[in-house]
Amino acid sequence: MNPLHQVQLSFIGCGVMAEAIIAGLLKNQLVAPAQITGSHPRAARREQLQAKYGIRMTESNREAASGHSSEAETAELRHDSIVILAVKPQFLSAILSELKGMIGPSQLVLSIIAGASTKTIAGELLHPTVVRAMPNTPAQIGQGMTVWTATPEVNERQREEVQAMFGALGREMRVEEERMIDMATALSATGPTYIFLVMEALVDAGVHMGFSRHVAQELVLQTMLGSVLFARESHKHPAELRNMVTSPGGTSAEAIYQMEKGSLRTVLSKAVWAAFQRAVALGHKADPPSRTR
Ligand SMILES: NC(=O)c1ccc[n+]([C@@H]2O[C@H](COP(=O)([O-])OP(=O)(O)OC[C@H]3O[C@@H](n4cnc5c(N)ncnc54)[C@H](OP(=O)(O)O)[C@@H]3O)[C@@H](O)[C@H]2O)c1
Repeated sequence: MNPLHQVQLSFIGCGVMAEAIIAGLLKNQLVAPAQITGSHPRAARREQLQAKYGIRMTESNREAASGHSSEAETAELRHDSIVILAVKPQFLSAILSELKGMIGPSQLVLSIIAGASTKTIAGELLHPTVVRAMPNTPAQIGQGMTVWTATPEVNERQREEVQAMFGALGREMRVEEERMIDMATALSATGPTYIFLVMEALVDAGVHMGFSRHVAQELVLQTMLGSVLFARESHKHPAELRNMVTSPGGTSAEAIYQMEKGSLRTVLSKAVWAAFQRAVALGHKADPPSRTR
């Protein structure tokens, strides 16, 4: 049974990530367009999403968050309702004041806003039922990695709904400790940046040797894709896979020597750690002044 069957979804802020979630849910037929309402400040964007997905769009965040359809504005909420906060972190404060005290007890608030803690969201909205999630951009093609955590007030049925929602975008993982959301921000949400940089560097290296950019890109992309799938299917430690292709005095051994000499591991480790520190600092900045630690 599909847990999202009949769940009303309200997206507050319909940018890149909200659209990825909407597209994934509709493509997988987990929800029907009539179950989705989105809010957006720009009319052109509202019209675009309405035309593309057949969903209801409104300018008012409060109206979207109410979870009611326009035809039944005064009717009682008959189904579960999830309010998804998907604006940029700098708009968090404004959104929270706007929605303060108006989220119904049976509604779940799901935030994908980087750095925004469940404590801040629950405290500012006067609503304890909150999920904080961190997706990444491959979610746009159904290959995302979403890490999420829930406050104790989120019930089992709501957790299943969240699991189904992010499962439609790729893989999902629930964590108990909220600190792990900042850690995931650095590793999986910022992750595509590391991969794309390495991808770009390898393509450039191919061009440097004399391949055309087109050929170098094809070689690099398929090698990266194949290596990832091989690692996943073989269940072997990456070092073991690497050793399998490193013959004594061979090309891999020579390349590894240069990468270690250039401190590639340390640079990557420092990059992830710096991203983690930044995620934590942005979280503190996102807290309203009275809550800043
Ligand atoms: N993209 C990622 O890889 C990623 C990954 C994980 C988490 N996130 C988080 O997801 C959130 C959204 O990111 P995104 O990449 O989707 O950003 P985005 O494309 O900028 O989407 C945010 C949307 O909210 C709209 N907006 C601005 N003010 C608003 C308001 N007062 N009320 C309602 N909507 C408003 C923006 O309108 P305009 O178009 O007019 O600016 C924009 O379309 C961020 O908090 C980010 O931290 C993103």
